Amino acid sequence: MATAQELMRLQFARFAALDPQLPDTHHLPSSGEPIVTQTLDGGAVAGLVARNSNPPGSAQSLWQASEVFELFPIVGEQPQAGMDALLRAWREWLATHASPGPNSSCTVVWPSRDIAATRALLDHGFLPLSCLAVRPPTPAEYTELSGTVKVRRAGPADLDAVVELTLAELEYAALVGTSTYRPDAPRLKRTAAHVRLHSSDPVWLAEQDGTPVAVAECGWVDTAKSPSSYRLRAGMWAYVNCVSVQEKVRGTGIGRQLMTLAHNEFARAGVIGSFLYYNPPNPLSSVFWPRQGYRPLWTMWEVRPATALR
Ligand SMILES: CC(C)(COP(=O)(O)OP(=O)(O)OC[C@H]1O[C@@H](n2cnc3c(N)ncnc32)[C@H](O)[C@@H]1OP(=O)(O)O)[C@@H](O)C(=O)NCCC(=O)NCCS
Repeated sequence: MATAQELMRLQFARFAALDPQLPDTHHLPSSGEPIVTQTLDGGAVAGLVARNSNPPGSAQSLWQASEVFELFPIVGEQPQAGMDALLRAWREWLATHASPGPNSSCTVVWPSRDIAATRALLDHGFLPLSCLAVRPPTPAEYTELSGTVKVRRAGPADLDAVVELTLAELEYAALVGTSTYRPDAPRLKRTAAHVRLHSSDPVWLAEQDGTPVAVAECGWVDTAKSPSSYRLRAGMWAYVNCVSVQEKVRGTGIGRQLMTLAHNEFARAGVIGSFLYYNPPNPLSSVFWPRQGYRPLWTMWEVRPATALR
């Protein structure tokens, strides 16, 4: 019977053949609880379940359930039958090892291009609510500014405008993905924006007749420094955390203009690429980001509450 190490080796060899942008390996959680099972024809598969809690008041509570069960599948070369067997075993495991409440979720992060596993995840009730998408570091083509819109770098004095725009994005995202607009969202967003505006991270603001109408809040991430936190190749990346255009001026080219500046600055900085998360059910961003050159790398599959796993 294949060992977990052998299954991992086969799994990453398969990932490399599926998608050259995937990292060579990914660290498993040190404190995961193991699940071992077999496919119908006797192939061994395994997984590790990590439990995380996001208490009220934590930044993560804005985009995750308060109790998260994340499965790290180790299915080797059996993406469909292996994932199917493992998800069935996980359901039994949950019934005996945990009693998840209403604010809980089961999540699996898996290569977007692995459609055999997609079938198994869909069959077990998982929804593709978020994906990590990547773009090569190519400069963007120049886009004409629309009307009287001016784009500039934001600084600490723009805190109120940045918070207001990022809260508008959260309100929108809460309808189309995993995010939740919790009562403490204004405070949490303010703290995060304050930190970013006092750092070297680039934030751009678009103004129309001097009034802020859009923001692109970005950052720099060296994935080599914390390889377990990112499912990306090691190196310096640009991270697009939040882009928000005021509702009444959406669809007029401001988002494109902001991202032209951002992508050109990323290219000048010499990053190996840029990445972001978007919600496939978002009718604006699911069109906007692929047109900006992004494509899915990892899909974040989720069922909420955790007891909805079938
Ligand atoms: C996604 C978003 C940032 C894009 O910014 P934007 O300024 O609206 O985008 P642009 O106008 O530059 O381009 C949008 C494209 O959709 C088209 N579009 C058509 N109708 C539209 C509408 N009602 N609203 C938005 N875009 C529309 C535009 O014509 C354009 O297509 P094109 O590239 O063929 O010209 C913005 O719509 C937004 O803030 N959405 C809500 C929050 C959100 O989803 N943020 C992203 C989270 S990942």
